[in-house]
Amino acid sequence: DGKYTVTLIEGDGIGPEIAQSVKDIYSAANVPIKWESVDVTPRLKDGKTVIPDEAIDSVTKNYVALKGPLATPVGKGHVSLNLTLRRTFNLFANVRPCKSIVGYKTPYDGVDTVLIRENTEGEYSGIEHVVVDGVVQSIKLITREASERVLRFAFQYAEEVGRKKVRAVHKATIMKMSDGLFLSTARNVAKDFPNIEFDAELLDNTCLKMVTDPTPYNDKVLVMPNLYGDILSDMCAGLIGGLGLTPSGNIGDECSIFEAVHGSAPDIAGKQLANPTALLLSSMMMLQHMGLNEYADNIQSAIFKTIAEGKTITGDLGGKSKTYEFADAVIKALKK
Ligand code: IPM
Ligand code: MN
Repeated sequence: DGKYTVTLIEGDGIGPEIAQSVKDIYSAANVPIKWESVDVTPRLKDGKTVIPDEAIDSVTKNYVALKGPLATPVGKGHVSLNLTLRRTFNLFANVRPCKSIVGYKTPYDGVDTVLIRENTEGEYSGIEHVVVDGVVQSIKLITREASERVLRFAFQYAEEVGRKKVRAVHKATIMKMSDGLFLSTARNVAKDFPNIEFDAELLDNTCLKMVTDPTPYNDKVLVMPNLYGDILSDMCAGLIGGLGLTPSGNIGDECSIFEAVHGSAPDIAGKQLANPTALLLSSMMMLQHMGLNEYADNIQSAIFKTIAEGKTITGDLGGKSKTYEFADAVIKALKK
């Protein structure tokens, strides 16, 4: 029927509500997509968290998925499902852009950062053990292979989107071996991209400079190990108005999963209070990835217009509207 099938993982907490907004807006905008909803409730197999086969088969078959937030237990229970998904599908690069929404007032104007996070290893390797009681070791695993893969991706991404500079963010002054390997790999990969300027910056310095004035970062692609990217991307989100507004894409060679950066917000779940913008913008990244740019442009303009007008926005943005009211306003703002 000429439609693309996309796997939809609605997720926990606010997930189903914000996924509903996406579905409603997509049908109003006539996006040629058929959603295939799958359940990813984890199963334990030989002591390991595994995702149900139906979910794996769906993503493998469709190549693209849109995913809502999945709750992560703290300090107990199964390994984060979010990480399990990234690992299962080898989604090695996590792309996290943060762009100010014109008309939505924050302490910073004109922010337009792009951060690429290594997505499979580092402190997220999940290798931890008790050495003796009261002493724990957590392994930060850095390999040349995974570093090179994400670095190459960052340079290619810069070329594609027309940014002239790639900057590696690191702490090789302290983590001389692990971050040192990431950095030396970056310098090597840079040689293959003579048209892109390469430099490096210490993570603490990046934080200081970004909160002082983020705009010098607007011409760069930042690339960094996993945990640094996790933390710095939340900081970038803070510059433009919070996690309700920031999208992300987990990119692999075989398939890609697009997801909001925020969590499942159990405190407001089921109350139609959540802002669906982050999931919507993640789905815009997905549409661009699929080459459906005209639909992405139409929906994105409608979202920005609705937020800039400020009449029908959710509580996190200072408004009083319900999730579905925001979605309806976006639908009204679509070009038909
Ligand atoms: C993110 C989230 C995840 C992470 C959690 C939910 C496992 O914070 O996507 O940034 O730490 O990577
Ligand atoms: Mn995070």
